[in-house]
Amino acid sequence: MNTGESPIVAIIMGSKSDWEVMRHARDLLNQFGVPNECRVLSAHRTPHQTAEYISKAEERGFEVIIAAAGGAAHLAGVAAAHTLLPVLGVPMESASLKGLDSLLSTVQMPGGIPVGTFAIGKPGALNAALFAVAILARKRPELRDKLRVYRADMAAKTLAEVLS
Ligand code: RP5
Repeated sequence: MNTGESPIVAIIMGSKSDWEVMRHARDLLNQFGVPNECRVLSAHRTPHQTAEYISKAEERGFEVIIAAAGGAAHLAGVAAAHTLLPVLGVPMESASLKGLDSLLSTVQMPGGIPVGTFAIGKPGALNAALFAVAILARKRPELRDKLRVYRADMAAKTLAEVLS
């Protein structure tokens, strides 16, 4: 999002191949007016740059990190190891194991370094963005109002479904 405001949510992903899914998280944050920054950073291909980016995230004003990766998906865990900010992990669907590999390697963190882990793929991307909004909304009443409207709209659409 390019509003001139400093980003408060970082969305990082292991590869540009994750972007088709993770753009849904970006779009949802934009819908809520949450300034964000999206970057490709890999726990394995760019380990030093990943550690540096995450280590500086809090002083740059970020409040939540969303980290997506597939396969041996260590990005969210590595991010969590380098910051006290909440880290939300989104496992990407993988070609060989359909994302079960990504899910397990994101969720199975050792006690002491938490990663909030979401569903595989697009539902996880959407829910990680909504969870980030829920965290931010604790101190931003306008975001809480937007969340309430979002839920009401969703309920109205569901109830208006016509089955032919
Ligand atoms: C992970 O490996 C990425 O997050 C991606 O989901 C997966 C495949 O990456 P590419 O080979 O498509 O770059 O690190």
